[in-house]
Amino acid sequence: MRKKHLFCLLLLLSAVSYQASAQSGNKLKSFSPGALWHDDHGELINAHGGGIILVNKVYYWFGEKRGAQRSEGVNVYSSRDLYNWKAEGLALAQSDDPASDITKGCLMERPKVIYNKKTKKYVMWFHLELNGKGYAAARAGVAISDKITGPYQFISSFRPNGNMSRDMNLFVDDDGSAYHIYSSDENMDLRIVKLADDYLTANQQDTLLFRRQREAPALFKKDSKYYLITSGCTGWAPNQASLHVANSIFGPYVLKGDPMTGENAAKTFGGQSTFVLPLAGKKDAFIFIADQWNPKDLKDSRYVFLPVDIQEEKVSIGWLDNWKLDRFNK
Ligand code: DGJ
Repeated sequence: MRKKHLFCLLLLLSAVSYQASAQSGNKLKSFSPGALWHDDHGELINAHGGGIILVNKVYYWFGEKRGAQRSEGVNVYSSRDLYNWKAEGLALAQSDDPASDITKGCLMERPKVIYNKKTKKYVMWFHLELNGKGYAAARAGVAISDKITGPYQFISSFRPNGNMSRDMNLFVDDDGSAYHIYSSDENMDLRIVKLADDYLTANQQDTLLFRRQREAPALFKKDSKYYLITSGCTGWAPNQASLHVANSIFGPYVLKGDPMTGENAAKTFGGQSTFVLPLAGKKDAFIFIADQWNPKDLKDSRYVFLPVDIQEEKVSIGWLDNWKLDRFNK
């Protein structure tokens, strides 16, 4: 009888230690869109509405740190392979000072980081809503750091050229000019504005791209054409994506319909666009990144990474349960 108990105990202990080593030791070798995704500590990755930047062969993923509902600053993770992510902590914290624009209780959404070669600073822009004001402030926030992982120092928040600024993204063009793409006028308009040379403010080259009630902009460039994926405006609920294409960054942007294909395409596979990542060192390799929001528990929202297929300017993105970067070699 005693021997049997000992045997059971040993079995249990080995199962527990196997699970622990599976969490800490086993490296991921592929993407599983929509699945639970853990960092190097076995915690769920908490980087929503995010974007990725490559620095010295390391990818850094910045995104919203969320509680069940609360916005808790901007998290950053690092990775060499895009599958396995190390938690680098809070890149931008909310402030304890009630007079600060980013005092605790504010909303920080869709953070993106770019590098300014002239000032040698990493510059973060994000959608900022002031504490207790719902989504009424509609501002862009800017923060900087000498180090990619931060801590970032908050600089200022404003409406670019007086325009409301909610969902947003940043784009750096081949000539080093940077742009802020943003939903404006109660999300009716999608606009683009060029940033000042130091990337800390918007300049006056500020253009309406289209008035089609779109948000969640994700812009990428291939063969001197600009491709812009956006979502509709239905809060946290998924809706249909669309693609616009232009020959100049300021437009005109031509509507090309929904680039998502296959089952659940009309709802962007339950997700909402946040970023398109050009894969370093691989020509014409892009990854579409989206959030599958869980409004009841925002921190538990899932991530969708999918390959972008482009054949003669026709963009298609289809669902894959599991895939590897080597599909870009084919
Ligand atoms: C949709 C936006 O894309 C999100 O970033 C967030 O602001 C939600 N709306 C809030 O409802």
